[in-house]
Amino acid sequence: MTIISPSILSCDFLNIESEVKALATCQNIWIHLDIMDSHFVPNLTFGGPVVKNLHKITKHPLDAHFMVTNPEFFLDDFKNYKIHNFTFHLEACHDPVDFIIKGKKLYPSLGISIKPKTPVSQIPKDVLAKTDLILIMSVEPGFGGQKFMEDSFNKIKDLDQLRKKNNYHYQIQIDGGISNLNAKELTRAGVDNLVAGSYIFSGSPQNYPQMVESLRPKIDLE
Ligand code: DX5
Ligand code: ZN
Repeated sequence: MTIISPSILSCDFLNIESEVKALATCQNIWIHLDIMDSHFVPNLTFGGPVVKNLHKITKHPLDAHFMVTNPEFFLDDFKNYKIHNFTFHLEACHDPVDFIIKGKKLYPSLGISIKPKTPVSQIPKDVLAKTDLILIMSVEPGFGGQKFMEDSFNKIKDLDQLRKKNNYHYQIQIDGGISNLNAKELTRAGVDNLVAGSYIFSGSPQNYPQMVESLRPKIDLE
């Protein structure tokens, strides 16, 4: 079943607890956490103090997306925060295979992300074989509410083909500019996990579950 990952970057930060709890009734969702350091990307968000107790207010898996220059620091720092998936950027890591091996000892799932200008061919084979998730950025990382980059479809198709051909186990996640206008075509192309921020959180909290469901392909609902 397709996973939908609401990104709390677009939620009301004065009420994070009630915003996250408004998603309580959803099925098959991850809570997407955008960690930015104002270095790897221009923007700055939140870190450990905000994340460490989130697991107490939600049963949904926590999905941390690190847009940081030094992912090694966070790999250790977040290890007790009950994060389900830890995603780092290929562009920020000199030895991604070693990083994944270390990370797999600390987190149930380890993911790697590529920015729009990084081609799929730049992901080493050993990474493809070992990673649990590949996050394709379909906007320049740093901000919510940007326009989806259409050429992301080629990356999805390439990664889906590679996975089938080599029996790789990674799931394909996409992040940036996701809405009901592109969600279904993306899942058809091979995406397993859709991150959406502004689309889900633009309405009122009682409608969040409905917004989540509107991103799911029909086949999931049958
Ligand atoms: C952007 C973040 C995204 C962001 C997506 O750098 O990685 O997770 O929240 O926001 P929308 O869905 O509004 O494009
Ligand atoms: Zn993200």
